[in-house]
Amino acid sequence: MAGETNAGALWGARFAHGPSEAMAALSRSTHFDWRLVPYDLAATRAHAAELHDKGFLSPDDFATVGGALEALSEEYESGSLVPADSDEDVHGALERILIERVGPALGGALRAGRSRNDQIATFVRLYMRDSAQALRSALLEVAQVLHQRASEVGDAVMPGRTHYQLAQPVLVGHYLMAHAWPLVRDVSRIDDFLVRNDVSPYGGGALAGGGVGLSPEAIGAALGFASVSPNSLDGTSSRDGVAEFLFIAAQIGVDLSRVAEDIIVLSSGEFGYLTLDDAFSTGSSMMPQKKNPDIAELARGKAGRLIGNLTGLLATLKALPLAYNRDLQEDKEPLFDSVDSLLLVLPAMSGLLETVTFNLDVMAAGSTAGFALATDVADSLVANGVPFREAHEVVGQLVSWCEQHGVDLPQVSDAELSALSPHLAPSVREVMSADASVARKSGRGGTAPARVAQQRDELKAELQRLSAG
Ligand code: ARG
Repeated sequence: MAGETNAGALWGARFAHGPSEAMAALSRSTHFDWRLVPYDLAATRAHAAELHDKGFLSPDDFATVGGALEALSEEYESGSLVPADSDEDVHGALERILIERVGPALGGALRAGRSRNDQIATFVRLYMRDSAQALRSALLEVAQVLHQRASEVGDAVMPGRTHYQLAQPVLVGHYLMAHAWPLVRDVSRIDDFLVRNDVSPYGGGALAGGGVGLSPEAIGAALGFASVSPNSLDGTSSRDGVAEFLFIAAQIGVDLSRVAEDIIVLSSGEFGYLTLDDAFSTGSSMMPQKKNPDIAELARGKAGRLIGNLTGLLATLKALPLAYNRDLQEDKEPLFDSVDSLLLVLPAMSGLLETVTFNLDVMAAGSTAGFALATDVADSLVANGVPFREAHEVVGQLVSWCEQHGVDLPQVSDAELSALSPHLAPSVREVMSADASVARKSGRGGTAPARVAQQRDELKAELQRLSAG
């Protein structure tokens, strides 16, 4: 092999020997970068068009290359296009295959004016553009299911918690939509990312720019980019866009892990708020009675992996000198893994949420437990002119009295109330129900039924806007 380009690689002539087996094994990336074939073929087509435009390829040669690329594309789609063991990466493999089809002169001519460094930077952006759309649709689907379920439950109430302690009653629909809004923000994060991602690094060459006079603008436009990177060093060697994408993926994972945690806890026997559908739960190999929330647990577990993909890449990028370094090959596996993981988790979560049964009677029964109406009693004293600080103390004493006597707030008699404080008139009883409690939270964003209905309309409008966009 000495003295010529290694088969399936794009270099070799200045080397006395071919690569060692250990070197080739470490260097090889076809087992993961093969999914970039469609982008490589599209860019090679745009590149050939530009070579033709600038007089480097005759019309006949351009047509021959176009036909070969078309055939490769079809073979890739059918699964019959595969790399050889000797291929170093997707670029080397495709050049080798193209040379086999159209001959060394023509196949080899296509390398003029480009480098794997600007190619890979471009393909990763194209891959992220497509995957972002797939994630976006899957995310919107989960948010739509949450909206749908929030519409079905009407004005049903449930216990709300802070610090995992019973706090105040809230509407079940309010709770469900609290899990939808973060996903809506994730979609808008994706949209912001797509704007920054819409810059082509193609034409940056190895680092300094292409040297044969091809137009980066023409190729960038053919690949659907809005503009071209203003700096070839930056274009070929920055991966902050990949890190940003991985952050969004990690944030989606974290958001889903919070949904998952609620599902796991609230479907447990102790709570019984939720019953999982058989199609979206699993059994135990040993305990015949078990029905486990494995989907939610896997969703929660994947969040760790998604965070790891982000932090791993950031560690790789830290202090890398300009311009391209081979370390950058390490961007792809975490990127692909995050996309694959989310495209498994999101549809499973949609299905789980679509089919889970809400045990609204159990939730309603628990909605005022744990003195969850104490704040409403204090608020009602404020309405009667008592300063909140004093109202807080009076109700604190009332709760302490109830605890000592083993009773709940509505069970305290009028005489006992007035003995505790002259502010505790019998009329405070009017606020001692979950319905009265939620109705008082009538400001924007509150859990009052009218506000939750408004929120459903706003969420629906937002989901429609994002689905159209
Ligand atoms: N496979 C490399 C990557 O993923 C691209 C090839 C660039 N290699 C090189 N030796 N310059 O980043």
